[in-house]
Parts: sequence; structure tokens; C-alpha cells
Amino acid sequence: MLNVVILAAGMGKRMQSDCPKVLHTIAGKPMLLHLLETARQLRPDRLIVVVGHGQSEIRQALADENDVLFAEQMPQLGTGHAVMQAVNHMVLSDGDASDATLVLYGDVPLVQVATLQALLAATDGGLALLTETLDNPTGYGRIVRDDQERVVAIVEEKDASAAQREINEINTGMLLASTSALLAWLDQIDNQNAQQEYYLTDIIGLAARDKVKINTVSPQLPFETQGVNSREQQAALERQWQAEMAKCQLRAGVALADPTRFDVRGTLTCGRDVFIDVGCVFEGDVRLGNNVVIGPHCVVKNAELGDGTQLHAFSHVERATIGQAAQIGPYARIRPGSDIADSAHVGNFVEIKNTVLGKGSKANHLAYVGDADIGEGVNIGAGTITCNYDGVNKHRTVIEDGAFIGSDTQLVAPVRVGKGATLGAGTTLTQDAPAHKLTLSRPVQKTVENWQHPAKKSK
Ligand code: UD1
Ligand code: CA
Repeated sequence: MLNVVILAAGMGKRMQSDCPKVLHTIAGKPMLLHLLETARQLRPDRLIVVVGHGQSEIRQALADENDVLFAEQMPQLGTGHAVMQAVNHMVLSDGDASDATLVLYGDVPLVQVATLQALLAATDGGLALLTETLDNPTGYGRIVRDDQERVVAIVEEKDASAAQREINEINTGMLLASTSALLAWLDQIDNQNAQQEYYLTDIIGLAARDKVKINTVSPQLPFETQGVNSREQQAALERQWQAEMAKCQLRAGVALADPTRFDVRGTLTCGRDVFIDVGCVFEGDVRLGNNVVIGPHCVVKNAELGDGTQLHAFSHVERATIGQAAQIGPYARIRPGSDIADSAHVGNFVEIKNTVLGKGSKANHLAYVGDADIGEGVNIGAGTITCNYDGVNKHRTVIEDGAFIGSDTQLVAPVRVGKGATLGAGTTLTQDAPAHKLTLSRPVQKTVENWQHPAKKSK
């Protein structure tokens, strides 16, 4: 039986924000959600979040996380006190050696599941601590060991002697303990310390007194134990995480023009020989095929791009599928519900929404194409607009294979352009255009032969 308790009741004053600290994001995702996702991979029997400050916002943000139990801590009397508030939600199967409770900190979001698994493997029915050796241990609780290297206590910096402050091994806060033992120890802690708080860390001394074996584990990656207490630390942690994301892509064979100017806020899956230029942001679930080229400063969100497709500078793609060998941008915007087929071209200042653009079709300059079904080999001239919205409802435009849409055309939907039809430039199409014919709506051009240019009146 495994309980995971995430402490998230603290105020986070140094963030200087109205938003509760644990809802601040790393890689576009609230810190607390990072932890929940990681914790879930351990398949815990109970997932408990201790809330206090900003709890209504936190409960609301987690409304869809049906497996989460909330414990309220009011007022906040320390980390030990916080864990005690979760007791009623914990499960315990009497005497089972596998009974364990893992404590995580809501503001230390990027601990990795492998590290937690190592901690689980190290409990041994007793206690396991995640510790780290730092050049500068200032501010952290220090791990005190006896002459046989056994952990005997954790002392908070504010309570530490000068000699103890010299210790470089620090408490990251995360620990795993036998649940029944943890509860017994928590019953015995007090708040006789510098901060007059009930320290969770005091259970270590009690465990040592009870001759319980205390094992320690260290994290693999440097940022796993990094806490966020300020905007500065948040930004620093974000960069560390993104550097790790970039490193993973490079190792997988993706070429990044500059790994320090690369942001993934979700998952990015790439084929072979993908090139990504500087300043791009990938959000949600993004899949890039083989030989895809992403130009500088593109934003791609929940989208799939096929082999050999090129997204040129400053383009946005959201909730769309783009086939193979397509050319998109620069300055193109592909909006949700769009399906761009193989070899299609979408050029500068073209907005495409909820539209199927068929194989080899082109919209190369300055157009709005929304709610349209466009066949293969269609050419959409500059300045073309689908008038898809009548002020109340949206309507579809259908353009069949091989049609040629002259520049500056308005297609007033619902309307259909037949196969191979041509629309003259400047047409306002309000009725269907038949296949293979030229349709245009335009006053006949005339020239006034004897027209006189106005002359300036004499005073
Ligand atoms: C804690 C540890 C310290 C460790 C450090 C690592 C204790 C006593 N000390 O110190 O050994 O080196 O973390 O970062 O545990 N919280 C509550 N309720 C409370 C108090 C805190 O939910 O009453 C939550 C906070 O929201 C935060 C976490 O617990 O997520 C840690 O609390 P914080 O006060 O920041 O602990 P530190 O003093 O940093
Ligand atoms: Ca802290």
C-alpha cells in the first residue's frame, strides 16, 4: 500500500503573485501537475495533496484530477504538521512491510520517477531520504551522520550549530517511510525549535533512536530537487528543464540551431534528420516526420507535420495536420481543424481554419480560408476570402479539384466551385460556379473617351 502526500499549503510569498505558488508553471504546466503525473507512475493507492493558502484556486485547478484527495492544513504549522493533516486519507494494511508513505513538496516539481523508484527500493520497511551534496548548502536542512556514516538526524539551518552548517549533504525534503512508523513518529514531534514549527525532519532523529535503518538516495539530474520560491528560481528551473529537453532531442538526432533557444511545453516527437531553427515553441503533442524543417520563431501546438514538410519563419500551427513535402509560411497561420495535404503550399499572411486543403493546392499570399473543403491542385489567388460567417452561423465553401480562384475573390458561403472552374479576379461569388467555366462578377470595364480632367477654379 503506497500513499503519496504532496505538501502544497504554504504561501509562496516570494513569488509576489496572486496565484498560489504550486500553480505557477514549468514548461507550461502547473508545478503541482508535474508532481501528480510523476507520482501516478508509481501507482499509489492514495494521492493526497495538503492545501491551505490559495486552496480554492488549487482545488479548482485540480477539478479534473479525480484520483486526488485533498487534506486541509489551516493554519500552517510546519511540514510535519502538514503530513499529519493527511492521516485520515492514508491507507494502511497492518503489518505489511510494503506499507509506505512518500512525501513530496509541491514547489519541487521536477523530481523524476526513476529517483522516486530508487527511493521506494531503498526504504527496506524503514526510512529512505532523498539527499544531495551541494557546494553551497545554505538554507537547507543538513544531514547529520554518526562515525559509522549512519544518518542520525536532520537539523534545520536555523537550528544548526556552526559545525553542522559545514555539512554539505542536505535534505531535499522528499522522503519515504513505513506508514505506521511515520504516524507513530509524527505523534511525538513538537515545535520546540527556532521557527516554532512541527518539522517533518524531526522524525529522522526519532527513527535513528528507534534503530530504524535510514537509507539515502541521490537524484540523477541536478534540477530534480530544485525548489521554486521566487520568479527567479522559476525562470532558472525552466531553463534547466528546457536544456534537458534540448539535450534529449539532440541525442535522438534532431538538429537544433541553438539548444538554448528551444522550448517544449508538452511532448515533441521527431523523425530522422529534423532541423529546428531558433526561437521555436512546441506545445502539447507535436509530431514531426522525417526531414522536417522548422524555420525560426515558429509556434507549433498539438499538430503533426509529415515527412519533408517545411515550416518557414514566423508561422503558427495549432491543432492541425500537415502532410508530406508541404511548404508553409513564412508568416502563415494554420488554425484548428485544418488538414493540409501533401505538397500543398500556404504562403505569407495566409490564415487557414477548419479547412481541408487538397494535395498540391496552393494559397500563396494574403488569404483567409475558413470552413472550406478544397480539392487537389487548386490555386487560390492573393487576397481571396471565404466569407464563412453570416453573423450568426458558419457555412462551408467547397472548391473542387483543379479550380483557379482569381485574386481578391470573396466566396460567400455556402457556395461551391466546380471542378476546373476559373473565377475571375475580384469576383464576389454568391452562387455556385459551374465546372470548367469562367465565372466572374464584375461590372464591364469602360473608358470614357471625352472625359475632361477637372481644372482649378480661378478666384
Ligand atoms: C524544508 C525542510 C528542509 C529542506 C528543505 C528543502 C522541514 C522542516 N525542512 O525546509 O530540511 O532542506 O525543505 O527544500 O521540512 N508546507 C506546508 N505546510 C506547512 C509548511 C510547509 O504545506 O505548514 C509545504 C510548503 O508549501 C512547501 C513545503 O511544504 O511546499 C516545504 O516547506 P518550506 O517551509 O518551504 O520548508 P523549508 O523551510 O524550505
Ligand atoms: Ca522551501
